[in-house]
Amino acid sequence: MLRNISTFLGFLVSLGLLSWAGLALLTGTTRGWFERDLELRTALAVDAARAGLVARWEEPELLEKRLLDLTRDERIMAAAACSPAGTTHSSTEVFPTVLSCETLFSRRRADGERGNWARQIDLPSGPARVSLTPLLLSSGGEGAVALVHDTSYVERREKTARNILVAVFGFLVLGAAAITVISGKLARRDWTRDLRRALLGPASLAGDEFKPLLRDVRALAQTLAEERERDGKNARWSAERLRSTLTEHLHGERIVLLANREPYVHQFAAGTGAVEVLHPASGLVTALEPVMRACSGVWVAHGSGSADRSVVDSHDRVAVPPGEESYQIRRVWLTEEEENGYYYGLSNEGLWPLCHLADARPTFRAEDWENYVLVNQRFSDAVCDEVDVDDPIILVQDYHFALAPKMIRERLPRATILVFWHIPWPNAERIGICPWREELIAGLLGASILGFHTKQHCNNFTDSVDAFMETRIDREHQAIVQGGRRTLVRPYPISIEWPVRWLEHTPPVASCRETIRRELGLAPDCLLGVGVDRLDYTKGIEERLSAVDALLEDSPHLRGKFTFVQLAAPSRTKIARYQQLNDRVTALAAQINERWGDGAYRPIVLLRSHHEPAEVFRFYRACDLCYVSSLHDGMNLVAKEFVAAREDEEGVLILSEFTGAARDLTEAIVVNPYDIKQASAAMALALRMPLSEQKLRMKSMRRLVSEFNVYRWAGRMLVDAAELRRKERTFGRLAAVRP
Ligand code: G6P
Repeated sequence: MLRNISTFLGFLVSLGLLSWAGLALLTGTTRGWFERDLELRTALAVDAARAGLVARWEEPELLEKRLLDLTRDERIMAAAACSPAGTTHSSTEVFPTVLSCETLFSRRRADGERGNWARQIDLPSGPARVSLTPLLLSSGGEGAVALVHDTSYVERREKTARNILVAVFGFLVLGAAAITVISGKLARRDWTRDLRRALLGPASLAGDEFKPLLRDVRALAQTLAEERERDGKNARWSAERLRSTLTEHLHGERIVLLANREPYVHQFAAGTGAVEVLHPASGLVTALEPVMRACSGVWVAHGSGSADRSVVDSHDRVAVPPGEESYQIRRVWLTEEEENGYYYGLSNEGLWPLCHLADARPTFRAEDWENYVLVNQRFSDAVCDEVDVDDPIILVQDYHFALAPKMIRERLPRATILVFWHIPWPNAERIGICPWREELIAGLLGASILGFHTKQHCNNFTDSVDAFMETRIDREHQAIVQGGRRTLVRPYPISIEWPVRWLEHTPPVASCRETIRRELGLAPDCLLGVGVDRLDYTKGIEERLSAVDALLEDSPHLRGKFTFVQLAAPSRTKIARYQQLNDRVTALAAQINERWGDGAYRPIVLLRSHHEPAEVFRFYRACDLCYVSSLHDGMNLVAKEFVAAREDEEGVLILSEFTGAARDLTEAIVVNPYDIKQASAAMALALRMPLSEQKLRMKSMRRLVSEFNVYRWAGRMLVDAAELRRKERTFGRLAAVRP
């Protein structure tokens, strides 16, 4: 179709150029003809009148009559007889006042002519042609006959020719359009028929152009068919369905989850000293907490809250969520030295910058590594303490615990260990700079299933294994085989719960719009952009604020009318790079406010504090656009939360192409956050996007997130795990009977 359109446009342009050239040629040629025609007419008219004019030269009345006879030619408007001295001897009554024999003689002189002379001029009555034809008088002197020709008909004819040409051009365009449309339709019909034939018939009969497409379509159809067969035909994944999958496929086994960050942090409130419960800003927690509520079991995590110890039982456990108590948190305590080495050091100054391509150099210290090994062992032991069977299901989460899968497997060889790496896995070359790359990879290969957000990260991991380990890679089954045991490496793009529980109590969009604007001191009709992140250098917060700056620079009408609110949760504040980022973001916001602010108007509102999810969802609902500008992000669940919040199907998502989410949410405006001009243009586009288009995009993204929710994510991993367990059990039985 596109090819048809471009061919058609090409045709139009060539036709236009041809017509223009044709018109120019036509005008030039016809003008030449008309001039020659007039010359001929003049010569004929004067020749016919010559004798009479000479004979009556001294009789004014009769001479004027002869001149009048000359003007009987419909194209000759006026005539005059000029004396040899160049004065007007006689003229018809209507001879133009602006012309005289004197002026005509002097123009002829100026043109360097002496005999016949003619020139095109513009008279107040319209275009005309004046001529002088020499006349030999009986006195021997040489006078001249001056004629004024009406040439307006030349223009009329040219106009008619132009109109005809335009009509022909229009006709050809219409004809070409009709032919293009018809041929496009016919081509599409043929293409569809061939594609259908290729899909339904044997692959060998498919044309070459369909072969790659055919492979993809068949693979997709097969996956869907398998999923349907495995999951039954019931619709959407929900907490309920996840629970029943667990019971059905895994006989309701208790899940033990290991993640550094705990889903509920108990904190002594400043001032009162009362214990309050906080929900940390963490994509991992956002995704996994609903899964644990659905499945029940135990979440092993670092007890990081100031009041955490005060609420646990003698086994360091506390039931959560408060009031619901559907699962438990098992808290592991770390000394300051352990936390510094394992969490701040190796995890967040080493692995975090290693895996994110955000121009941050990783720092690898031997003492951090020692703590990382030690703490991984401590947590692995805690996990093993929590299981009550020898083949439990254990979910290990993220880069804090790369060594734990192997450590757990050493104690529980029959465990099903599902590992999910929530951040990107870079290419082998990058991983190669880590002094403990082999240990990290070997640790992860303790897993039964190793999940990443994208296929790309899976490929990067497999390449890293290929580069640094002595293992067999079974590419067909996407598995790494080591000592007769296999680790499946699969993409499982993570998501959020659907429906989101926080939305049950969030006021409707109209009310959020009004109250948030009031609370921020903004005009009720102020346009609002929102960003929600931990204060982390991978999130592109500086680039985002710079895009707002560029927007206000390029769109003066938005000054005073548009405000961007950045919710920035302080994060990993002991690390120098995070402190520097905090300072830079604060300074940049102040600078932009200084530049464009006016009176009470501040274009950037920087809210640097922890915001509880209920509060964050109010902002999602209040805004006109949400900009996620990560420089590199495994998935980014803010984007999906924003979509979930917009039940009104309005609001525009601007999304960095370097997030995993950009692969799912293709109806967002996808930008390169480093390209400040592009991002600011995207914001301008978002702010003027018609509601109908907003709804179209939002509706489609909501459909996707609701379908591909976190219950499906967990469900898929658990179903794959169940299948693996079945295979391993069968294999175990066969091995036992083998002689
Ligand atoms: C990312 C990581 C999570 C982590 C979260 C918050 O999303 O993948 O594992 O929990 O950041 O970081 P924090 O260091 O506060 O846990």
